[in-house]
Amino acid sequence: MYRRNLSELQFKQSYRQENVVAQPISFPESSPAGFTVLPNEPTYDPQRHLALEKPTEIRRLADLGYDNTVIAQCPTEVAITSPFRLLSEEGVAALHEVSLALQNYRKSCDRIPNMVRGAAYRSAFVRSLCLCPIVSEFLSVIAGNSLAPHSMPSMLGHLNFAPEDISKAVDKWHTDTIGLDYVLMVTDPSQLEGGKFQYFNGTKEEGAAILKHEEELPSERIITAEFPGAGYAVMQQGNMVLHRATRLTRPSQRITMVNGYVSLDVRFSEQTRFPDMKSLDSPDVLFPEWARYKAWLSRSKLDALIKELPFTDDRAVICAALREAIADVEVAIADIEDTSQSKMIYYGG
Ligand SMILES: [Fe+2]
Repeated sequence: MYRRNLSELQFKQSYRQENVVAQPISFPESSPAGFTVLPNEPTYDPQRHLALEKPTEIRRLADLGYDNTVIAQCPTEVAITSPFRLLSEEGVAALHEVSLALQNYRKSCDRIPNMVRGAAYRSAFVRSLCLCPIVSEFLSVIAGNSLAPHSMPSMLGHLNFAPEDISKAVDKWHTDTIGLDYVLMVTDPSQLEGGKFQYFNGTKEEGAAILKHEEELPSERIITAEFPGAGYAVMQQGNMVLHRATRLTRPSQRITMVNGYVSLDVRFSEQTRFPDMKSLDSPDVLFPEWARYKAWLSRSKLDALIKELPFTDDRAVICAALREAIADVEVAIADIEDTSQSKMIYYGG
């Protein structure tokens, strides 16, 4: 028998060079208790509702100051794009109508005063838009990596609305609890006073260190995204970009939709923050979603191992590969067994 003796590092290098692009997980066939689908919705039609135009500018992680070691752990070098058109006027009208109907399900958390979670369970239109393979392919080209809609349905179609108390920020300085997403303007931001989408021109660690001692980030390092109108979006690696939506200075309707994505190349560091989500979603929804998502990661890694594991008598190499492949499931078990409370990470009052 031909045997190869590889050091663990050599094995990891050869193993990781192989194709580990996973198959995306399918949307659950049943919904959580209490999540009913809206009646009388428009039917999603990508031909009529999309109007995709490539962004003119892309800011990369290196532009924000991240070093190569950190960037190597991320599924894309993209930090954030300039606003680009995603929906047609008809698409905006349809999503606006659906968003207003979903507003009945609004809730709040410490960070976000007015939001709707689980819209993909409650709306066939939102689900179809958020799962649309045309959009996933479009974003994959921007990212330079194969992306799929996030495997946790609650990370699809998150809706933010203007707070009733406009002294509150729409969303405080934070990094996202997921890695990749777009932030889509459902209403026309040019009609607003305040309610700006802004991000910090620096690393999240640097921004957090400043906000620990100062009330605000230096204005010259805050970038405001200029959206030409409703239907425009930015794509961001949201867990790496410190961003916020500022408070409104005049009461107005402001609606945005955030849709999450995962890398189908599953070799990179985990970007989804489970502890933060404990204060966002109820356990009967969050725990099964986390279990399914982490099981999908492990299954994808096991599939790659089955395909690529070389012949070797090196026990340590083989066991390390097996451990690495099942680590996501072990993490999920520990997370779900952990009964402690946790808070979302954000900055400012
Ligand atoms: Fe965000």
